[in-house]
Amino acid sequence: MDKLTVKDVPVQGKKVLLRVDFNVPLDEDGRVLDDSKIRASLPTLDYLLAKEARVMLVSHLGRPKGKVVEKMRMDPVARRLAQLLGRKVEKCDYITGPEVQAALRNLSPGAVLMLENVRFDPREEKNDPAFAAALAELAELYVNDAFGAAHRAHASTSGIAAYLPAVAGLLMHKEIRYLSKSRDNPLFPLVVIMGGKKVADKIGVIRHFLPFECSVLLGGAMANTFLKARGFSMGSSLCEDDKLELARHILEEADRSPAQLLLPVDVYVVEELRRHSPHQVKGVDKIPPGWSAVDIGPQTVKNFREVIAKAKMILWNGPLGAYEFPPFHWGTEMVARAVAATAAESIIGGGDIVAAMEKLDLSGQVTHISTGGGAVLNFWEGKELPGLTALPERSVTQASSP
Ligand code: 3PG
Repeated sequence: MDKLTVKDVPVQGKKVLLRVDFNVPLDEDGRVLDDSKIRASLPTLDYLLAKEARVMLVSHLGRPKGKVVEKMRMDPVARRLAQLLGRKVEKCDYITGPEVQAALRNLSPGAVLMLENVRFDPREEKNDPAFAAALAELAELYVNDAFGAAHRAHASTSGIAAYLPAVAGLLMHKEIRYLSKSRDNPLFPLVVIMGGKKVADKIGVIRHFLPFECSVLLGGAMANTFLKARGFSMGSSLCEDDKLELARHILEEADRSPAQLLLPVDVYVVEELRRHSPHQVKGVDKIPPGWSAVDIGPQTVKNFREVIAKAKMILWNGPLGAYEFPPFHWGTEMVARAVAATAAESIIGGGDIVAAMEKLDLSGQVTHISTGGGAVLNFWEGKELPGLTALPERSVTQASSP
């Protein structure tokens, strides 16, 4: 996958519609809690602004379901972006229509206008062609930097590309480069770490990597379901009983595959999950009735760290325990420190684990931190991402040019 990027086309002085994923967490007072997604798109913005483009930013924020939700307006995001850019960012309360056209007429070269939350319009998520065309009418070029929303077939992530010359932004380009390598050309020994709560979210990724001679390490509540499928009594642990059959299939596939699937051998258990609740370490065959597994245990951490130390490439999505309830962040932290300490190429995706790395101040020791959550999983799984499909390949364009 080698998409045409913003550097391959003339942008000087152009009206550019830049789709970004500024879906960031806000606090009660509407302040941006984590601006990493905004910072990740600064290279594209800086490039366009240096070329005196007139940039209209389009993003979603939360899931307003096609209605105006006051708390989901883009204003706090525009304010944070202005601080990061060190220049004014105009904010328009509309997405399309005469108000946007008027704001656009006042937009000078090298200036930025942020449009309202694109999901306030019900036509966005329906990928409505008329809405996509109305967005396209605003600009001369469409740049998609929203990797985190590339798995959505929406008007501003996919449909619009039918009506305007379309290219990838620099963040999108970087995401594609690292994620393509990790999926299609990984380095060996390869270690894939999957955690989090839901089996269904990760099953496709696990399946994708089973044919490789790699190690797949499972943790988090998701691993409980696999352990139960292996026949262990999991007490009151969070398990997805409706996914037991699926987990059994995966375990059978793994037994026949060249991959080595590692489940926890011991876990921290609690009677009730809260911060600092009394806990014990138990082998997975000795979980007392009524107790719940909430983190991987010391022997599991040792096993995982041994595999990680030999890796040349590590892919990771999802925390390995109840990370938000200390001290049950311990397993995730120990594994994160092991990942950071290797010379392996490490690629990490998904909000929770990315936030954990940030909190541990380890982000700088990872090769690539993806801005995608669901998009990364879909990519590793080998699924088509509509936001990527909509962007032209560089080779195709070059081959067809005179
Ligand atoms: C994300 O935060 O993963 C992206 O912004 C996509 O958001 P969505 O899951 O609401 O489409």
